[in-house]
Amino acid sequence: MPIIHAVILAAGKGTRMYSDSPKVLHQLGGLPMLEHVIRTARQMENVKLHVVTGFGSRQICDYFTGQTDLNWVTQEQQLGTGHAVAQAMPFIPADDAIVLVLCGDVPLIKASTIAELVNNAGADSMSLLTLITETPFGLGRILRGVDNHVQAIVEEKDADDEQRRIKEINTGIMAIPAKRLSKWLSRIDNRNKQGEYYLTDVIALAVADDCAIHTKVIHDHFEVQGINDKYQLALLERHYQMNKAEELAKQGTTLRDPARIDIRGELICGRDVEIDVNAIFEGKVRLGDRVHIGPNVVIRDSDIAADSEILANSHIEGASIGAKCQVGPFARLRPGAVLREGAKIGNFVEIKASIVGKGSRANHFAYIGDAEIGAGTNIGAGTIFCNYDGAEKHKTIIGDGVFIGSNSTLVAPVTIAANAFVAAGSTVNGDVPAGNLAVGRGKQRNISGWKRPQKRPKTE
Ligand code: UD1
Ligand code: CA
Repeated sequence: MPIIHAVILAAGKGTRMYSDSPKVLHQLGGLPMLEHVIRTARQMENVKLHVVTGFGSRQICDYFTGQTDLNWVTQEQQLGTGHAVAQAMPFIPADDAIVLVLCGDVPLIKASTIAELVNNAGADSMSLLTLITETPFGLGRILRGVDNHVQAIVEEKDADDEQRRIKEINTGIMAIPAKRLSKWLSRIDNRNKQGEYYLTDVIALAVADDCAIHTKVIHDHFEVQGINDKYQLALLERHYQMNKAEELAKQGTTLRDPARIDIRGELICGRDVEIDVNAIFEGKVRLGDRVHIGPNVVIRDSDIAADSEILANSHIEGASIGAKCQVGPFARLRPGAVLREGAKIGNFVEIKASIVGKGSRANHFAYIGDAEIGAGTNIGAGTIFCNYDGAEKHKTIIGDGVFIGSNSTLVAPVTIAANAFVAAGSTVNGDVPAGNLAVGRGKQRNISGWKRPQKRPKTE
């Protein structure tokens, strides 16, 4: 099997994005467009990946730090698609390898499509991906001869009126034998309306050289949609999300509205999961059987076990939620929040890097940070875990069956042993032994005969 050299074009500035970021770093489904293309290309066997960058190449390389299988090729000046591919050729041996040209701004191209293109290319044949569209404006037209064989591609700006009426367009994606491509690229020039070295000019050279040209006509225009502005990006995002919603629903997840869910990463659902409107899932999220997600919930990189319920307007990140838990409405779980089975976290409770034991609850207004809370413990309304002394973070350890009265402040480091009881309004800065009552507040005084302050009479 020949080696496939995927050359991904990503040097363009993307002027119409009106952005300081290079176009290919703009995200679709939570990933840069370029990363979609790279991941798809990577699925092929025997593939080597070359990415041609120019505008913003530094930012692009930085983003992909650690993906060591990528060969970065710089195109200092954007002199055209042919010039861009030529910059990668020194890294590609002129043997039986196949060069697959992909575009960094065509994010939804499918692995099966490019596999077909590559399989139809050989020493004496190349393949071309085309689309038939009612809106061919701005794109390269496919010129076919009387026998319907492809003769050439003409760019819109160079086309005559008759050619402009052609509805079959070049998607920009093609597979070409490396040995021949090097020769053709050395022969193309920039004598055209745009003064660019067009990759599309190799088609006519291939015809002249008796290289067979296979075309694959694609029917799903979204798959080959190139992104030039933010509106095209927004429309493609909706299409992508609709597909994700369809996939989920067809696998048995109940979606209250498939148009109002966003999956920016990977969402894995068990059986009979229900998701209400405006839920956003980011990174990797796993929902166990019968999990219910309320409206306006954001969940990122978290696991939620079976039969748990997340109520409206909760924000959950880096959390691990056990079975049969209830969270929200308006709860915030931050990284390292671990809820054991049956825990209950109510409104306006924030939890960070803390374990909440089995069946324990914090029902209203609380901050729980850097804590370990045992089973069957109750954290009263308004409790604050003072984990930060202004310099360092400290831990609070609370045993099983503890009761923390409302509006208490627990000054870490502190340990409250099993079955202890903290009186409401206490400031606890010393350990509480098991079963003790801690009262940490000033004693109440009642002053009799108290006179309220009076308003002074108004003077002129
Ligand atoms: C190109 C094709 C056109 C096709 C269209 C599909 C040519 C001459 N024309 O048009 O037939 O219908 O794509 O979208 O190939 N790029 C570089 N370096 C450059 C120029 C472009 O890396 O010097 C990259 C861009 O970043 C982009 C891709 O190549 O990812 C396509 O470039 P673009 O300018 O969008 O192509 P068009 O000329 O519009
Ligand atoms: Ca384009």
